[in-house]
Amino acid sequence: MAEHSNHAVVYGASGLIGWAIVNQLLNSYPHVGAFSKVTAVTNRQLNLAETFWPETSQGPGLELVSGIDIGHEGETAVANALKSTVKDLETVTHVFYLVFAANDDNLKEVEINRRMFTNVIRAHNKLNPNLKFVTFPGGTRGYGIYVPGGTFTPPLREEMVNNLPADYAKTVVYPIYREILDAESQGKTWTWCEVCPDAIVGFTPNGSQFSLALHWAQYLSLYAYNHGIGPGAQESNTTAAEVPFPGNFSSANSLFSPVSSQRMARFMIYASLHRETCGGGRLFNIADNEVPCKYGELWPRLAAWFGLKGTGPAEVSTAQDNTLKVGELSKTSATALTPGEYASKYRDIFARQGRPDAVCKGVGYGSRQLDSVGYWLTFDRQLSLDRLKETGFERDLDPVEGWLESFEMFRKAGLIL
Ligand SMILES: NC(=O)c1ccc[n+]([C@@H]2O[C@H](COP(=O)([O-])OP(=O)(O)OC[C@H]3O[C@@H](n4cnc5c(N)ncnc54)[C@H](OP(=O)(O)O)[C@@H]3O)[C@@H](O)[C@H]2O)c1
Repeated sequence: MAEHSNHAVVYGASGLIGWAIVNQLLNSYPHVGAFSKVTAVTNRQLNLAETFWPETSQGPGLELVSGIDIGHEGETAVANALKSTVKDLETVTHVFYLVFAANDDNLKEVEINRRMFTNVIRAHNKLNPNLKFVTFPGGTRGYGIYVPGGTFTPPLREEMVNNLPADYAKTVVYPIYREILDAESQGKTWTWCEVCPDAIVGFTPNGSQFSLALHWAQYLSLYAYNHGIGPGAQESNTTAAEVPFPGNFSSANSLFSPVSSQRMARFMIYASLHRETCGGGRLFNIADNEVPCKYGELWPRLAAWFGLKGTGPAEVSTAQDNTLKVGELSKTSATALTPGEYASKYRDIFARQGRPDAVCKGVGYGSRQLDSVGYWLTFDRQLSLDRLKETGFERDLDPVEGWLESFEMFRKAGLIL
């Protein structure tokens, strides 16, 4: 099949990574003609006008298919739903799978996500004789970072996922995705890869379960407003108000490797077009930069965008506490409100200042976990990018770029002041 007839289908297109993949494809990454069609599938209803995807004459054609729940029991129901709603379904060549449904019960979460993934992969395996590539994101959770203090000594290398303790591995869905893809691709012409990010920084048009950039942007935006800074505020301050890093000393100073959603998206597309070097079920770490960073160093640069002075951790103790579980804040954490609590308390300011979308399109389910990022992630967890570099993918970026681009987009979309 000629390259110009590549047809990408993106599941979870309204999510953090999914939105960026559609955005990159419509912007003709990696070059004009690489894809002729993009089908963006979303669960919640989404109007094209609200997506902020570019309108281009040169890029591939876009079809938005909204309101598709892929979580039904029974793969036939999902295959039939796709057949009746996705035009030219039989021409799909590339599947980008970015769906994730969180659940408080880890085993239930694995089961829900296993079912959705199976439904989608089996449907395409049946319906797409010309399928070439499937790609999905894993995450550092797959390196055991949900164990207090972490599991492996960093830098985290791709082969470590094979040594994940069994009782932990069963709480993560990524190993199951690999098994499904290995089994389903047997004897077929298509192949697949997995891409592993740590924190992903990016834009979504209608909120997200786990967007740290949106979580902190709404907090900083309201904090600046309440201190007389920024759009709509009574400009009362001549010196920038201070805003402490929402966390503790160890978390502010631990090493990690964030990635912008746009770069992650570009690599997933790049990998899908380089099956010889990136296929065969390979796993690739992805980050903006080989040099890891610290939240404590990023914070002042993020706060500065809102006219604030980002200072050291809210919690002053320098003792390392590696006992906290994901979602927990230190017992001694500051009496001040967490970003999530602060946003809940002052959210009505968005509506009063003509930003009604910001009230309902924030961070949903993951708010508590994102509040705890500055507390329980007290250990180094940086990624090795050696394998990524071997693929010849683009040069490294300054990690702050992705944050600031996201803040610009949140403002444009009316999700912050
Ligand atoms: N966020 C991060 O920083 C991060 C870091 C490392 C790894 N990851 C991994 O990346 C993957 C994607 O995460 P993300 O952050 O992009 O998530 P996200 O922004 O919350 O997006 C998840 C997507 O899944 C869709 N979805 C949920 N239930 C669905 C259903 N029943 N049917 C169809 N679609 C459904 C959602 O659609 P609606 O919104 O329309 O419901 C949404 O588009 C996950 O495996 C996650 O673990 C994320």
